[in-house]
Amino acid sequence: MNQQAPYRFIAHTADVPEDRALAVVLPDHPPLAVARLGDEFFVIDDTCTHGAALLSDGEIIDGEIECPFHAGRFDIRTGEATAFPCTKALRVYPTCVENGAVLADLDASGAAPLCGQTCTQAATV
Ligand code: FES
Repeated sequence: MNQQAPYRFIAHTADVPEDRALAVVLPDHPPLAVARLGDEFFVIDDTCTHGAALLSDGEIIDGEIECPFHAGRFDIRTGEATAFPCTKALRVYPTCVENGAVLADLDASGAAPLCGQTCTQAATV
């Protein structure tokens, strides 16, 4: 039983590749992407802030995700836009991992995640 909503299941860690983000479609939320940086996992909005591209179709390069449309980039940890033409930050959700599952608080108001590694706030899913 999940006693610590609003953290909710997003993906299995084993399904997240090393070099690309995993696209996640939930029925009640805009498209999400899960990215892996070493042992850490991050849940971000999948739609580029510059246009209608899906970032999960782009590459992960040195901690940044590159948009497949115009090669704009975002820092995966902070959401900061790091390469033109992207200027608006990407939303990054507080994320944690527990029992091989990536969990995220999709209701959080804009705070960047602190870890993405060991979950201390969510109960067993
Ligand atoms: S749509 Fe992503 S950089 Fe233009």
